[in-house]
Amino acid sequence: MAEKLDTAAWYRRFALVETRGYSPTYDQWCTGISEDPDLLALLDDLPEAKRQPNLLLGAARFHGAQPTPYPEFRGFLLEHWAQISETMLARSTQTNEAGRCAVLLPLFARIAATEGRPLALLEVGASAGLCLYPDRYGYSYDAGPLLSAGPVPNELVMECATTGHPPLPASLPSVSFRAGIDLNPLRVADDDDVAWLEALVWPEHARRRERLRAAVGVARREPPLLVKGDLAVDLEPLIQRAPADAVVVVFHSAVLAYVGESGREAFRDTMLRLTADRSRPVHWVSNEGYGVLPGVEGALPKADVEVDRLFVLTHNGEAVARTGGHGQTLDWLE
Ligand SMILES: C[S@@+](CC[C@H](N)C(=O)[O-])C[C@H]1O[C@@H](n2cnc3c(N)ncnc32)[C@H](O)[C@@H]1O
Repeated sequence: MAEKLDTAAWYRRFALVETRGYSPTYDQWCTGISEDPDLLALLDDLPEAKRQPNLLLGAARFHGAQPTPYPEFRGFLLEHWAQISETMLARSTQTNEAGRCAVLLPLFARIAATEGRPLALLEVGASAGLCLYPDRYGYSYDAGPLLSAGPVPNELVMECATTGHPPLPASLPSVSFRAGIDLNPLRVADDDDVAWLEALVWPEHARRRERLRAAVGVARREPPLLVKGDLAVDLEPLIQRAPADAVVVVFHSAVLAYVGESGREAFRDTMLRLTADRSRPVHWVSNEGYGVLPGVEGALPKADVEVDRLFVLTHNGEAVARTGGHGQTLDWLE
């Protein structure tokens, strides 16, 4: 009984905190599930981690659920439960949002300029690696002129509204090495993996879906080096593979929430040690939810809203900005 109540509360809270005002379809669906004993019973048959709302929503859309009112969605879930639950057991939420490059770019460019070297980008929790191509995308900050290294399709122009004085670059930094680590790297060459990434984009977010398809095209032309592994174990060997004349930038975005508290602390300590090691330049850029990276939230104002969805951008452990979760806003703190 207690478990059933927990699942209902999880969906109710997800509707309120994550979807309200952002995805009316998912708001209605998650609210509906939270009040639906039949669906809650099916979810409660799954291991706890697999009852996650975003996982169910992605799996339902992967199997063809259309943005319909809740009663029709409910019927779809019941009819296709065998396939949907199988996908929930086999996959996890790995949303890959290339738009986050808009908030990472100012730091990447500043690091390249300060160090006077090209970047070796190492992303932990890279999913399919679409954030490893900041130099292949275009940017328009505050609806200003296009910033890019050459012609880019409209779908790959990242629009970002800023406040404060972010160090917006005049040109894109050069990247001489790009590699990622993920527990389960998704392959851009695999149509099923790409379909899963598309299913994870929420129904109303058409521009994000177009961006995803275009970014997959970039990565298909120049596939990233993706290592299957754990950020706690496999980062340092990967750093050794970066060219010696590049400045290593280890970065991550929307990843540490999946890592337990002690794992986050150990990772933070590893990164602070690596950035302090003068034998080779290593920088650390983190873009995570408020309070996820231990040790930085205390210095920051929480947004004055009921639900603070803004991420915290840090450089070498110091908070520099609050950012929109998909890279749509950049509020510079310095
Ligand atoms: C929500 S996705 C974010 C992907 C990408 N960073 C982005 O911003 O678009 C989180 C990714 O972190 C990966 N991940 C979670 N824990 C991890 C760990 N301990 N080591 C490596 N990857 C991990 C997941 O597999 C998933 O692909």
